[in-house]
Amino acid sequence: MESYTLYLAIHEFEKELEKELTLKGLTFEKRDRLYLVTGEQGAMIWAQTTGLKAQKIAIESINDGARKLKALQRNWAVFTIENHRRAQLIQDQLPKYNTKPIAFMKELPTSPMGLWTLWEPNLIIASAETNSLFPLGEMTFEEDKVNPPSRAYLKLWEFFTVHAPRTNNGGMSIDVGSCPGGWTWVLSNLGYDVISVDKAPLDPKIAARKGVQFLEQSAFGLSPDEVPELEWFCSDIICYPSRLLNLVNTFIKSGKVKNFACTLKYQNETDWEATNKFLEIPGSKIVHLHHNKHEVTWYKLS
Ligand SMILES: C[S@@+](CC[C@H](N)C(=O)[O-])C[C@H]1O[C@@H](n2cnc3c(N)ncnc32)[C@H](O)[C@@H]1O
Repeated sequence: MESYTLYLAIHEFEKELEKELTLKGLTFEKRDRLYLVTGEQGAMIWAQTTGLKAQKIAIESINDGARKLKALQRNWAVFTIENHRRAQLIQDQLPKYNTKPIAFMKELPTSPMGLWTLWEPNLIIASAETNSLFPLGEMTFEEDKVNPPSRAYLKLWEFFTVHAPRTNNGGMSIDVGSCPGGWTWVLSNLGYDVISVDKAPLDPKIAARKGVQFLEQSAFGLSPDEVPELEWFCSDIICYPSRLLNLVNTFIKSGKVKNFACTLKYQNETDWEATNKFLEIPGSKIVHLHHNKHEVTWYKLS
């Protein structure tokens, strides 16, 4: 049976996914936000979820479709492109799954989450395994609407919960581009002391927290010689990715940092040149978090 890879583009970032696929030399068939590529390919940064080892499955009826999907596995999220009602009637026959928001640093679901679509009225395309444990790659949190001074904290919550769940709390961290203080708040709650750096002032409640030291200055004027050994170097600075790359490289060379988590922010199109240079750093990964907008998260764990 021929194998495919099915990508669901992030809403409004379809062009980014198209460019990424093209840069990888992959051709695709596109319907709505779904991109079908022949063969077993890897996950893409600009896909909200990647359906691995997708198969085409001919069906005779709604019941037949539901039966064939159930035979493959339990959890299926549908993305409908046409034939919405027919697809929904199939989905209604599949087992229900938990869609509740999750709590920060709580264990993630353990069962694989599938992705399927009705490509044509009698043709399903289905991946029993995607690269996300959440339906259509959409993860939501039980938010804290009281304490964090900005919604940017959700990016770091998602990063730690999904990509660094075994972070061993405690020690020093640096948060550059920290104002008003959402990320500093997260690091401090995880038990880290935080050197929080921004040209703009930090929210006074965050600046007053035990273990938080605020430096009101440009992060680009900072030398690794001025800081102690760091468990985490975190950056959410609004700047060109190439500029951040220089700063990150300086801190890598210093040997003082164990782990990095940085947002790469793009102006118009993705700066692939700088993005690829980040990826060349040994041990690097880049993901588009569900809480990222026109930006991605580069990280490197020790
Ligand atoms: C998206 S905001 C950060 C939000 C923050 N992570 C939070 O959770 O509240 C980006 C920040 O980058 C800061 N910034 C821009 N240029 C900077 C520089 N050269 N040095 C330090 N901070 C800078 C801005 O002042 C702004 O506060």
